[in-house]
Amino acid sequence: MYLTKEEERMLSGEYGEAVREAMRILVTLGDAFDAEHMIPISSVHNTMGSVASAGDSALEYLQEMIRKGARFRVSTTVNNASIDLNGWRNLGFPEELAVKQFKFTAAWQALGGVTCHTCTPYLVGNIPSKGDHVSWGEVSAITFVNSVIGARTNREGGYTSLASSIAGRVPLYGYHLDENRRGNVLVEVKAQLKTVSDFGALSYHVGTMVGDRVPVFSGLRQNPSIGEYKALCAVCGSFNAGALFHIVGMTPEARTMEEAFRGEKPEEKISVNDGDVERAYNSLTTATGGEVDSVCVGCPHCSIEEIEMVANLLRGKKVCDDVKFWVCTAVQTKVMADRMGYTGVIENAGARVVSDTCPVALKDTVVDMRFRIMATNSVQNASYAPWRCGLQIHFGTLQECIEASIKGRWTGRT
Ligand code: F3S
Repeated sequence: MYLTKEEERMLSGEYGEAVREAMRILVTLGDAFDAEHMIPISSVHNTMGSVASAGDSALEYLQEMIRKGARFRVSTTVNNASIDLNGWRNLGFPEELAVKQFKFTAAWQALGGVTCHTCTPYLVGNIPSKGDHVSWGEVSAITFVNSVIGARTNREGGYTSLASSIAGRVPLYGYHLDENRRGNVLVEVKAQLKTVSDFGALSYHVGTMVGDRVPVFSGLRQNPSIGEYKALCAVCGSFNAGALFHIVGMTPEARTMEEAFRGEKPEEKISVNDGDVERAYNSLTTATGGEVDSVCVGCPHCSIEEIEMVANLLRGKKVCDDVKFWVCTAVQTKVMADRMGYTGVIENAGARVVSDTCPVALKDTVVDMRFRIMATNSVQNASYAPWRCGLQIHFGTLQECIEASIKGRWTGRT
């Protein structure tokens, strides 16, 4: 790979051991993907925020980089933690986990990371512009910046985007290049989508069909809500190797069908009807019977509008004593929810507004915290939680999840 004089100096160790190590990782990555050169980036979002998921080795690595003098060159946000940093004790998180997470968070901060601990950093200040090259992890967030914002990132792992934070660069390959952003598969949506979970079910259905190709949606109603966009980002995020879609007439690189396909013909056309969406609901539901011990909304983390919706549905109601109900969000959004009175309404009903984390970031700790059979309106939660946390899932609409929390039983679709 071609390196500038400056990059050669970085690689030779002239700027210290941490920069040398970061460049070594990026050059190895670039060589593996035949990148011609590096490109400067404007931001990083690092997926490695939870010590429970990343492991002790990640904590040791961050501490080693601090000892080597690392300091981030570009604005870097950090994904979900293993605990709610403010409310962990009240929520019943194990103390041992909290102690370890605080060390992990402190290490990120020492490097210059912004520990917002959210998977929706684009809702709380890390907002690239169209055409920016960035180095992001966390599949739903990557798909959001690529597709909805029109910035450019590959699916970065924790260690490669850490290297990019230190070096301020990424190797130029994959989604950074025009030719890999062309639509491949036309998806004609004939299903009537009414809810966030309908968008999630659509994304699951399409994601299992397109592989790593770029789907181009047509027929979606204008202006999906932020929650619907987030659900759609699961299309590439969870079910295949891609991280980009286009919506004709809506997303930045698809003002027209021709632009979405860069003037070429689609390789394949898929049509999605109501029956396909309904079958996706069935596939995502792994629980049998009506038992529910937990409800989780906010995967990816809730926007303020989604929290308002939950508050309106829970106002004056009472969550069953046997059910844990988490509304997961970024700490900044929780501050706004507190101010708007939504947190009060939700917590008076017996649910909790939880910041910084989510059940999946807790990994197997969730079972110790008595989560076993969870109702969720999130397609990502439904797809991750069974294999990462061993949970059984009822996948349904927000309304069905709220009803389950109140009745203490799942009475939605089966
Ligand atoms: Fe975010 Fe956790 Fe879901 S990291 S996307 S809330 S699994």
